[in-house]
Amino acid sequence: MAHPLKTRAEVLSRTAEGAYHRLVLRAPGVASRVRPGHFATLAVGGPESALLLRRAFAVHRADPAAETVELVIAERGAGSRELARSRPGDVLDLIAPLGTPFPLPEGPVSALLVGGGYGGAPLIALGEEIKRRGGQIGFILGAATAGRLFGVEQARALTPDVLVVTEDGSAGLTGTVTGPLAQAIRAIDASVVHACGPMPMLRAVTGIAQGLGVRCWTAVEEAMACGTGICMTCVLPVVGEDGVSRFVRTCTDGPVFDGAKVRWKDIGSVPADLHGAPATGEH
Ligand SMILES: Cc1cc2nc3c(=O)[nH]c(=O)nc-3n(C[C@H](O)[C@H](O)[C@H](O)COP(=O)(O)OP(=O)(O)OC[C@H]3O[C@@H](n4cnc5c(N)ncnc54)[C@H](O)[C@@H]3O)c2cc1C
Ligand code: FES
Repeated sequence: MAHPLKTRAEVLSRTAEGAYHRLVLRAPGVASRVRPGHFATLAVGGPESALLLRRAFAVHRADPAAETVELVIAERGAGSRELARSRPGDVLDLIAPLGTPFPLPEGPVSALLVGGGYGGAPLIALGEEIKRRGGQIGFILGAATAGRLFGVEQARALTPDVLVVTEDGSAGLTGTVTGPLAQAIRAIDASVVHACGPMPMLRAVTGIAQGLGVRCWTAVEEAMACGTGICMTCVLPVVGEDGVSRFVRTCTDGPVFDGAKVRWKDIGSVPADLHGAPATGEH
């Protein structure tokens, strides 16, 4: 984990991007530490608020020269609704960078980047970095409807290999990102897939990539309370290097995991073979 900073970040702008809000924040010292896949947390509601927990958002872009970080916010509950109404000049309490970023290749690779909804947000900077290292990239960006896609034009500025998929057919192909996935992996001869989006999508993408013998890095989204490794609310069952399954913290051991190591079907339960799991009948 990169050393995170807690800072007061000034909102420079908020722009609507389809169903999302893109916040540009001035956060001195933060941007130079950020790598693609890191996330940030923001406090919401002010000091008197009953909204105790910080809200987590993937970093979309970081510009060390301008000392800015950008976040893409979907309105969900009270916290994200409030953030979506931020105005230039507002000051937000930010901690970043948090978590582990996507592993970057040493040299040129062919990588397919797969984003579901706002899951496209961290993939643009990742694509830029892979290209900077001489690699080749393709994108599949999917969402329920056209308005919930993110990053299509930015992806097209990086590569002609951009597939758009919507469940209702309002943009691109009709269906989900898994539909054209195998063909897209073959088309660019991808040796690695990087995916960010809802958990069922990540599970399905991992399965297809694994079936083709392609490594798949997944940026998961699990409910987080502290975001800094203390509370253990964000744990997932993951197989370790030693073959033993353990609960690991999404916020510090992740959010990026080798998809093949995540026990997707056991999420939400305590598998009996997990290290430290209670023996049958124990409570
Ligand atoms: C690593 C990561 C990256 C993310 N990136 C983005 C992004 O780029 N854009 C985006 O729009 N959203 C992103 N999210 C989702 C975003 O954090 C939620 O949409 C947001 O927290 C919702 O807050 P709310 O107040 O609007 O909703 P509410 O539902 O009112 O509040 C949710 C809050 O409660 C916490 N919470 C809920 N259930 C539990 C539980 N069982 N245990 C512990 N805490 C719980 C959540 O973590 C959150 O802090 C990301 C989440 C994670 C973990
Ligand atoms: S959210 Fe508290 S340990 Fe991960």
